[in-house]
Amino acid sequence: MSEAPQGRPQVRKVCVIGAGVMGAGIAAQVANAGIPVLLLDIVRDPADRSGVARAAVDTILKADPAPFMGKGAARLVEPGNIEDDLPRIAECDWIVEAIVERLDLKQALYAKVEACRAPHAAVSSNTSTIPLASLIEGRSDAFRRHFLITHFFNPPRYMRLLEVVGGPDSDPAMVTRITDFADRALGKRIVPARDTPGFIANRIGTLWLESAVNAAFDLGLTVEEADAIAGKPMGVPGTGIFGLLDLVGLDLMPHVRQSLTASLPAGDAYQAVARSHPRIEAMLAAGLTGRKGKGGFYRLNREAGRKEA
Ligand code: NAI
Repeated sequence: MSEAPQGRPQVRKVCVIGAGVMGAGIAAQVANAGIPVLLLDIVRDPADRSGVARAAVDTILKADPAPFMGKGAARLVEPGNIEDDLPRIAECDWIVEAIVERLDLKQALYAKVEACRAPHAAVSSNTSTIPLASLIEGRSDAFRRHFLITHFFNPPRYMRLLEVVGGPDSDPAMVTRITDFADRALGKRIVPARDTPGFIANRIGTLWLESAVNAAFDLGLTVEEADAIAGKPMGVPGTGIFGLLDLVGLDLMPHVRQSLTASLPAGDAYQAVARSHPRIEAMLAAGLTGRKGKGGFYRLNREAGRKEA
């Protein structure tokens, strides 16, 4: 964090890596707070560098059609290509990694981030389930001191909860700086969690979600029948369990399942419910990843005129 005139370290510029469902939403929320954001992703067409920003905006608008940025905030988001613009993370006080939920890709990215970040900069992962200890394997002591998990919830600008996991090497002052910023600038309610599988939310939430989805399939319920019950009446926000899968992204679930089954003991209750239903497999094979893609349960139903889950 750079030193403010009164000597207090501050977060003056943030880098978000990964402009998908979560990264785009986090970048938008930070920009709304008046903080400049460098938003990096893989630019598939090098002639179209602004493609990252457009893709990010499209992602947010698809997930949340209400206007998402305050006046002028969009200009605070600078899009960049991870290949060329990674050295620019040296300008940033906090680097938030929100790339796909795969340990190998995250570890490879951190090796590059380690070489470019400013010595004071905090680095955090938005991982849903990957243990902090695994994420920082092979990294320097300095990197470990500046690393933590900041698990935002979807959609970031509406969900106040922020789960924060520090490791044994995380500098407590650095963790406090980030949580203070998240509290004051982003309005988050911080829940500290330990580095245990799925932390708190996904330890509880995925067990429940996988059980509910599989039970709905096994009972032969339609999407609408299941969500009419496992929705608002049961305190599930939005459209219920199938709506939640559409929001989260159907493609995220296999990564979450892989990570949790690898880190939980064999006899754990989650191991018994952790299975992908063939209907979800078929949707994934057809590129139906939910709201961020060609559609999911709800749009699939509308397009195909089908009612069942
Ligand atoms: P997503 O699939 O929507 O977006 C991931 C983005 O990362 C894509 O735009 C992809 O091009 C980019 N990317 C992949 N590898 C990259 C690399 N090496 N460098 C730069 N960009 C790269 O994923 P989503 O759903 O936003 O998830 C991101 C992270 O947030 C994951 O760790 C996930 O577990 C976590 N998370 C997801 C939630 C959700 O509801 N989707 C909720 C909370 C956490």
